[in-house]
Amino acid sequence: MGTPTEIIFRKMTPADIDAVNELDEKCFGDDAWSVGFLTSEFRNPNTKYLVGEINGEIIACSGIEIFSDEAEMTTFAVDPDFQGQGLGKRLLEETICLAKKFGATSMIFEVRCSNVPALHIYQKFGFRKVGRIKNYYIDSEDALTMSGEI
Ligand SMILES: CC(C)(COP(=O)(O)OP(=O)(O)OC[C@H]1O[C@@H](n2cnc3c(N)ncnc32)[C@H](O)[C@@H]1OP(=O)(O)O)[C@@H](O)C(=O)NCCC(=O)NCCS
Repeated sequence: MGTPTEIIFRKMTPADIDAVNELDEKCFGDDAWSVGFLTSEFRNPNTKYLVGEINGEIIACSGIEIFSDEAEMTTFAVDPDFQGQGLGKRLLEETICLAKKFGATSMIFEVRCSNVPALHIYQKFGFRKVGRIKNYYIDSEDALTMSGEI
């Protein structure tokens, strides 16, 4: 297992799509994006995707879509084998940097009501609940909409 200091963050490339799909399935189960959806997301000119690599293995991924001065975070995940080592916080810092680089001054995203680890990290970075969407997920769980200045 790697340590947090070994992680390298870089832009996602088309060659990463299969590995990101595997990571997505490990992290999100039934909510995982298909290869086709990932490919179309990657081709969207307004989206930017990041991967985190340890020893050449993709163990983290995040994405944003830029809407003028607001970025919507579309995905955010760390491989379960590498969670709890501070990499989620590193990934969120990198994602915020990326959003700022493309002119965003705020970020918005959805999260499952029950996702305690994700809610913990988002609140730690100053994101706050601004809404709730009923039956948002495939299993009918509600989503919380989180937002904050970056
Ligand atoms: C959310 C996620 C990215 C966090 O990644 P991580 O690498 O474990 O996060 P970190 O190690 O940086 O921990 C961040 C904070 O969350 C806390 N945390 C981690 N796991 C936790 C848990 N199970 N319960 C409560 N807090 C938890 C850590 O203690 C840390 O807080 P601290 O700085 O106050 O100690 C990871 O759990 C994940 O990929 N989950 C599956 C995909 C997902 O749900 N993504 C979010 C979609 S909205």
